[in-house]
Amino acid sequence: MSWIRETELSLLERLTANILKAGPMPRHVAFIMDGNRRYAEKRHVERQEGHTQGFDKLAETLRWCLNLGIHEVTVYAFSIENFKRSKEEVDGLMELARQKFGRVLMEHENLEKHGVCIRVLGDLTLLPLDLQQLIANAVVSTKAHNKCYLNVCFAYTSRHEIANAVKEMAWGVEQGFIKSSDVSEVLLSQCLYSSNSPNPDLLIRTSGEVRLSDFLLWQTSYSCLAFQSVLWPEYSFWNLCEAILQYQLSYRSLQKAQELHRKDEVRQQVEADRTCVAELLQHRGNGKPLDAQSQQTALLNYTARREERVQCFLGALQHKRDTFFSDLNSQTVVAKT
Ligand code: FPP
Ligand code: MG
Repeated sequence: MSWIRETELSLLERLTANILKAGPMPRHVAFIMDGNRRYAEKRHVERQEGHTQGFDKLAETLRWCLNLGIHEVTVYAFSIENFKRSKEEVDGLMELARQKFGRVLMEHENLEKHGVCIRVLGDLTLLPLDLQQLIANAVVSTKAHNKCYLNVCFAYTSRHEIANAVKEMAWGVEQGFIKSSDVSEVLLSQCLYSSNSPNPDLLIRTSGEVRLSDFLLWQTSYSCLAFQSVLWPEYSFWNLCEAILQYQLSYRSLQKAQELHRKDEVRQQVEADRTCVAELLQHRGNGKPLDAQSQQTALLNYTARREERVQCFLGALQHKRDTFFSDLNSQTVVAKT
C-alpha cells in the first residue's frame, strides 16, 4: 500500500463532506493510531499484520483528510516507550518503517502530484542507521512539496521533545546567539520538532484509551480532543466525520481560549522586555530617570534587537536540523554510487 490511497469518496461521503465543510474545519488533525494489536487478536491474524493494516489505514485516512480540505496531519507512529516492547515486535515495526520510507522514492510522482511533504519528528538517533538514512531520503525528497504535510512522529515522546527544545535553547545561549532572558514560551515552541507546523486543531485517539501517552503535550493545550472506541485498523470515514463534528461543536470555546492565550503570550513578552530595559537603564546608571517617550524608544529598540537575536538563533537551529537530514541523505547517495 502506498502512502496515499487512490480512491475517491462515494456519493454519500461526498455529500457529507460538503455539509461538514460548510462549518469550521480543522486545518491540522493529529492521530494516536491505537489498537493495532487488539485488532490483530480480534481477527486472529499476526500482530505484525495488525501494524501493516494500521499503515494502510493511515494511507486511507490521508486521502479522506485531503478530500475534506485538511492539509496537515500528524501521526504517532512509534513512541520511545515502544522500544520496551518485545524484540520481535520492535524489529517488525522497524522493518515496516524500512519498507514504507523506502517506498517514498518509488512513489515520488504520486506524492508530488498531491504535493505531500513528509516530515519525521523525533529523536532519530535512537533508530538503526539504515532506517535513519531511509527517513532522511524521504524527508529530503519531499521537502519542496507544499500542498499538504504529513508529520510522522517516530522515536518520539513529548517530554523528550520538550527536553530537547530546552537543550537547544541552552546551546543558543552558550553559542552567544541569544541571552537567557530571551527564553520564553514562544521561543520554546519554536525549538520543538513541530516548529514548522501550526498546533493541531483536533487530536483523535482511537481504541477507547482516554490519555495522551506523551504525545504533543505542549501543542494540544488548546486543541479539541476526541477519544473514539474504534480500533485504528477499523477506522472509517464516518468516524472521522464524527470527530470533526465534535470539533465544530467546541469550536467557539476553543477559539476563545486560543485568543486569550495568544494575548497572554504577547503580554508576557512585553513585560519581559520592559524588565530587561529597566535593568539595562539602571546599569547605565546616569541616575536621571527617562521621560515616557525615551522609555518607549528604548523598549522598541530592545524588542527589535531581541527579535534579531532570536531570528538569527532560529536560523542556526534550522540549519543544524537541515544538515542532519542532508548529511544522512548524502551518505546513502554516496553509498549507492
Ligand atoms: C498502536 O497500537 C500502534 C503502534 C504502536 C504502531 C502504529 C504504527 C502504524 C500504524 C504504522 C505506521 C508506520 C509508518 C511507517 C508510518 P498498539 O500496538 O498499541 O495496539 P494495542 O493498543 O491494541 O495494543
Ligand atoms: Mg496501544
